[in-house]
Amino acid sequence: MQNNVTLDFGYPWWLSYGHVVLLIPALAALGVGAARKWPRWMLATLGVTALWSAASLVVLRNFNADGRAAMPTENFLKSGAGKVLDIGAGTGRSSIMVLDARPQATLVALDRFGESFEHHFGHGHEPEQRLLSNLQAAGVERRASIVSADMRKLPFNDASFDGVVSAYAMDHLPREGSKQALAEAARVLKPGGDFLLMLVYNDRWTRFAFGPALSHGGTRPSSWWRASLEEAGFRVLEEGTRPATLYFLLRR
Ligand SMILES: C[S@@+](CC[C@H](N)C(=O)[O-])C[C@H]1O[C@@H](n2cnc3c(N)ncnc32)[C@H](O)[C@@H]1O
Repeated sequence: MQNNVTLDFGYPWWLSYGHVVLLIPALAALGVGAARKWPRWMLATLGVTALWSAASLVVLRNFNADGRAAMPTENFLKSGAGKVLDIGAGTGRSSIMVLDARPQATLVALDRFGESFEHHFGHGHEPEQRLLSNLQAAGVERRASIVSADMRKLPFNDASFDGVVSAYAMDHLPREGSKQALAEAARVLKPGGDFLLMLVYNDRWTRFAFGPALSHGGTRPSSWWRASLEEAGFRVLEEGTRPATLYFLLRR
């Protein structure tokens, strides 16, 4: 059951609406220019800018960084129940995604709540409280607990979880760190358990909307992730893309 606190994942506004800053002036100038008969090249430039920013806005709304996420595959934790670990939970978008889709599951939301958290979500105080507020707003807090730790050294015994999820987090570490985090995910997952890994992916639409401005994660091809996942002991069941996202469904 949801309460009346609203969800606020805290991603920067420009990730959802940044292109409005260009779209509105471009449309306004286009209107003025058409009325005052500005040169055609100027009107054409304004028209292209308006079209590009409108299309980019559609791309961003499709990714929906500030809204609830949909599971990229229905095959994660198909039993619908069990204990899940969310590695790099941030303000809870991925945790809520899993708890919404799997109402019988419980989840441990793990994050370091350090520099990287502040980099993404700003310097507001009590980062854990922001995560908790979102879990409460989504009405899933009774099935979730919060742990502060580094994903490269997880504070759990071997084979403690039925499922592991990690969204847009492991690609924030340098290669060696990502490999350590993958090995830790494999260690704490039960044999036969599922791992859903989601990464920022510079697909053609993301490149269209952001150009070189959104570069993180884009430098490592899916083949690097696939090889590293196999090295960590995972079997790849599915690999696919969603807007701005590369995902792998894996089995330990
Ligand atoms: C882009 S956010 C993703 C949050 C969330 N999974 C989502 O889907 O919105 C990346 C998160 O990874 C966390 N993180 C980065 N390095 C970490 C580390 N070494 N250990 C634990 N968490 C880390 C950051 O604090 C941040 O909250």
